Amino acid sequence: MAEVILEKVVKAYGKTEVIHGISTAIADGEFIVIVGPSGCGKSTVLRMIAGLEKISGGIIRIDGREVNNLEPKDRDIAMVFQNYALYPHMTVFNNMAYGLKLRKFTKDEIKHRVDQAAQLLQLDGLLERKPRQLSGGQRQRVAMGRCIVREPKVFLFDEPLSNLDAKLRVQMRLELRKLHERLKVTSIYVTHDQVEAMTLGDRLIVINEGAAEQIGSPLELYEKPATKFVAGFIGSPSMNFIEARLSRDGQSANIQGDVRLALSDDGAPDFGDRKVIIGIRPEHFNISESNPQAIPLSVDHIEILGADTMVYGRFADTPDLITIRLPDIHHFKSEKVLPLSVAPDKIHIFNKDTGARI
Ligand SMILES: Nc1ncnc2c1ncn2[C@@H]1O[C@H](COP(=O)(O)OP(=O)(O)OP(=O)(O)O)[C@@H](O)[C@H]1O
Ligand SMILES: [Mg+2]
Repeated sequence: MAEVILEKVVKAYGKTEVIHGISTAIADGEFIVIVGPSGCGKSTVLRMIAGLEKISGGIIRIDGREVNNLEPKDRDIAMVFQNYALYPHMTVFNNMAYGLKLRKFTKDEIKHRVDQAAQLLQLDGLLERKPRQLSGGQRQRVAMGRCIVREPKVFLFDEPLSNLDAKLRVQMRLELRKLHERLKVTSIYVTHDQVEAMTLGDRLIVINEGAAEQIGSPLELYEKPATKFVAGFIGSPSMNFIEARLSRDGQSANIQGDVRLALSDDGAPDFGDRKVIIGIRPEHFNISESNPQAIPLSVDHIEILGADTMVYGRFADTPDLITIRLPDIHHFKSEKVLPLSVAPDKIHIFNKDTGARI
């Protein structure tokens, strides 16, 4: 097990810089998820930690040792990829044993380690099978097993579940988390799926265009997103963004005409009277019939999903479609206008130009 430290790590391909100086300290035994949209640089960061890509600037340390110029095999890491790349002609046992044979472990030691990993991953009955005789989830576990037997200091995962169907993905996600709780090996996991990131990670690194926008626990990112990008990326359905003007005293936000939202006292910014972006999560609207301050939503359409209901509509003449998530279906049948309120502490305010949280 080991701490992994990135100090202002930069990657450029030729003249194009794709990672712009990422710094973070990953604690011994921590499960960190690197998350962000396609092309933002997640795999590049992981491959630099693995040593599969040279870094163009900065320092990477694993377990106190600078590894900038170490070969992947000398870094004491093990990596699981999206395509598990099992050897098709080898049995499950040999797939797991192969790396140990190369490293000249004794026969007894190899058998001991493979048996232990197989038991942990519930592959004990399958050791003599070939990969083609396994389900997707079982193959995934063999790929994990191949890493576990090496007893590395750090596990690196690059979208290891994305080839599995939705149901199996949820199941493997749980198994991965349980496995981590047993092994406690420092793990760095890449995904573009924010739900996977939220459920697996002790902490998340949200990357946008090669820079870390925010690093924090799942709840920190959900409750206090540092930027509009993080706010929109974390949470499903996505946060609603509405242009508004802060009142001079910072106590309310004017959406349009006299449609205004009360803001929380402690969160009231001391510089009012300017344009901002208001962010409200779909699950944070309440229907409040008797509230004279409620803001009316003109309903566009409704989706009844069973456990909850999505309502789409607009405030006054604002152009953006607002998404609202309600926990039950009985409040309304065919209303065209819903009176809504939002608790002031559930309203996020972002700088209109920079996207930074205010
Ligand atoms: N060998 C290369 N030469 C030039 N540019 C590259 C190279 N490899 C990656 N890039 C660029 O670096 C950026 C980051 O790529 P990376 O593969 O890290 O993205 P990612 O976040 O893993 O995306 P995805 O979710 O699609 O896997 C992209 O813009 C990509 O085009
Ligand atoms: Mg990638």
